[in-house]
Amino acid sequence: MTLDLFADEDLQQPARLQSISEQGFVLHGFALPWAEALLQALAGVLIQSPFRHMQTPGGFTMSARLSSCGELGWTSDCNGYSYSPVDPLRKQPWPAMPDTFLALAEAAAGAAGFEHFVPDACLINCYVPGAKMSLHQDKNERSLEAPIVSISLGLPAVFQFGGFERSDPAQRISLFHGDIVVWGGVDRLRYHGVLPIQPGQHPVLGEQRINITLRKAG
Ligand code: SIN
Ligand code: FE2
Repeated sequence: MTLDLFADEDLQQPARLQSISEQGFVLHGFALPWAEALLQALAGVLIQSPFRHMQTPGGFTMSARLSSCGELGWTSDCNGYSYSPVDPLRKQPWPAMPDTFLALAEAAAGAAGFEHFVPDACLINCYVPGAKMSLHQDKNERSLEAPIVSISLGLPAVFQFGGFERSDPAQRISLFHGDIVVWGGVDRLRYHGVLPIQPGQHPVLGEQRINITLRKAG
């Protein structure tokens, strides 16, 4: 199902809401009018807490490099996955969540039917060509009632959106600069992932894809 829900004067085409499950949506182009402000705020976050590789509990190095902002940051090491108020690299609180992130997250969640979304955790993933994210569930958050808001910037990606078992078939959805995926409610625990990023140059971000995922973790 595709609806023209919100038109934006800056865009050649109106942003488009695509339903991918009962309570899962792709908001094509929704972040485009915000992209410059997002990238500026992101630069401020990354000066404080730069991207770094993290280890999985199984001893592998994740191919995407990560950072976080907000009250809680998602971390992974040999002991498992957890949310921490402290950046383990700097041993200091994560950078504050920029207001633009909060405002866009609330607007995108609202457009997908989730009112009053106030995230306290923001994971930032940086993918270079070849980097991927294996199928997983977001289930370390204390409040599973809140949706996930996932913003794509830079190089395109193929997003996998599966079922409630890892082995369930997964849809493959192309995501481009400015697209936002929102899922929650009955679909909150669906497996999802990203296929290896293909080589390319993005006019704004060059040879990388950045994903900003906002969640209510505490
Ligand atoms: C994630 O699920 O943590 C990242 C998804 C994405 O990069 O689109
Ligand atoms: Fe995820």
